[in-house]
Amino acid sequence: MNVELVLQDPLTVSSPLLVLPIPQGTEALAGALASANALTGGDLERALERKDITGKLEETFLLFPPKGSGPERILLIGTGKLDEVDAEVLRKVLGRGVRVAEDMRLGSLSAWLDPVFRLSQATCAQAVTEGVVLAAWHFRELKTQQDPDAPSVEVTEFSLISQGDAEEVRRGLLIGLAQARGENLARTLQARPGNVATPTHLGEEAKRLGRDYGLKVTILGPREMEEEGMGALLAVAQGSDQEPRFIVLEHRGGEKKDAPLVLVGKGLTFDAGGISIKPAAGMEDMKFDMSGGAAVLGAMQAVADLALPINVTGIVPSSENLLSGAAVKPGDVIRTREGKTVEVVNTDAEGRLILADALSFAQTLKPSAIVDCATLTGACVVALGHEAAAVLGNDEALVNQLREAGDRSGELCWPLPLWKRYRKQLDSDVADLKNVGGRPAGTITAAAFLQEFVGEAPWAHLDIAGTAYGEGKLSYRRKGGYGVPTRTLVEWVRSRVA
Ligand code: BES
Ligand code: MN
Ligand code: ZN
Repeated sequence: MNVELVLQDPLTVSSPLLVLPIPQGTEALAGALASANALTGGDLERALERKDITGKLEETFLLFPPKGSGPERILLIGTGKLDEVDAEVLRKVLGRGVRVAEDMRLGSLSAWLDPVFRLSQATCAQAVTEGVVLAAWHFRELKTQQDPDAPSVEVTEFSLISQGDAEEVRRGLLIGLAQARGENLARTLQARPGNVATPTHLGEEAKRLGRDYGLKVTILGPREMEEEGMGALLAVAQGSDQEPRFIVLEHRGGEKKDAPLVLVGKGLTFDAGGISIKPAAGMEDMKFDMSGGAAVLGAMQAVADLALPINVTGIVPSSENLLSGAAVKPGDVIRTREGKTVEVVNTDAEGRLILADALSFAQTLKPSAIVDCATLTGACVVALGHEAAAVLGNDEALVNQLREAGDRSGELCWPLPLWKRYRKQLDSDVADLKNVGGRPAGTITAAAFLQEFVGEAPWAHLDIAGTAYGEGKLSYRRKGGYGVPTRTLVEWVRSRVA
């Protein structure tokens, strides 16, 4: 996807499709809408009078300017009420614009934003860029035949037309582009099935990011994990023929002495449940159990792309969770990197095991904060559904930072408590703790398990089991992985830049 900024009168810019957002209840036409109305000899005014278009969110109406004008078509897209327009609305509006362009077999579109929204020009530019770049993403690498449902023309060009503050608009555009490209990388990795996106594959992708974006990448295999004492990660991996990988990516944008932010993502490339095997129905979705790891890789790409002046380390523990004669069994006791012993009561609670070793490794980096994200519990889907991730942690300020980052990205998260009293659900008769706390408060006890391995560092955990993938109902998404919470992580990192 090519994105450019055009600082010119939009009605003189040649474009096959010019998107103009139109708020609900628009009466007096001003700015871009007044120009479009004049260009079409009053057609817009008449359309509004007849209520052909009312400005309802994502409602569309096409105007045809006379031959020889800049744009060949003007696509009005409703934004809903003006005072309710936020970044998420603009992403949806531009996502709709891309879908219309696809239907009309147009390879490029442009958009003109009047500075009428409450949002800053940078925020608007970022949101529309994200909407377009996310909407245009698709995954066809495993199709050998033309898909009759897929658009025959891809949208590959977007120009943002602005007469606002060029520097501010450009800044927003570049942030939106980097964040959406990072999220699209995560979606591509999510879309790859378990036999393609193995732990080794994620390691190779990390190395490619290292080469392309100047990240320092270190990858541990089973032998190095043995030396590190990563008994929990190794226990999960021991039932699989695929070797596990422990992936570390470093972005050094800050001073050498500055403590890094650490992002940790669960990279479970296929979760069959292990000996505590999952039911067959829907098990194919467990290729998405590496969504947290994919988001960390996407976020690290964006952080490096934006050359953010801060130190950030991404960590992705990666393994399969399968069954074999060598697999870890219910009742087995394992030793974690941190030293605590764990009774594995249910082998399907494997995410917290691989994260335990990653979080204890993260301590050694003396981080200023740790954020992990993981498709960790089905209980989270019960609690919050598909609209919000759960956020839990040992630091209220950090939890709030993530909530706010989620509000900006549209990838919402909402807090659950992490009081000490939940810890007793993890008491084990034979080991220091067990890996499941029973049915009540499953998302909280999973986080309580993780907390045992974070030490003193400010830490927050995002449970993305309900938000990482789905039917793709939003205009800028597609069915499958959403790349969530890549943009939230980058929003948060950006908020931490001094
Ligand atoms: N990867 C799953 C959680 C999950 C469930 C993600 C649904 C996405 C959608 C995780 O490894 C798991 O199996 N968790 C168990 C934990 C239980 C055994 C305590 C669960 O939630 O059932
Ligand atoms: Mn599991
Ligand atoms: Zn899992």
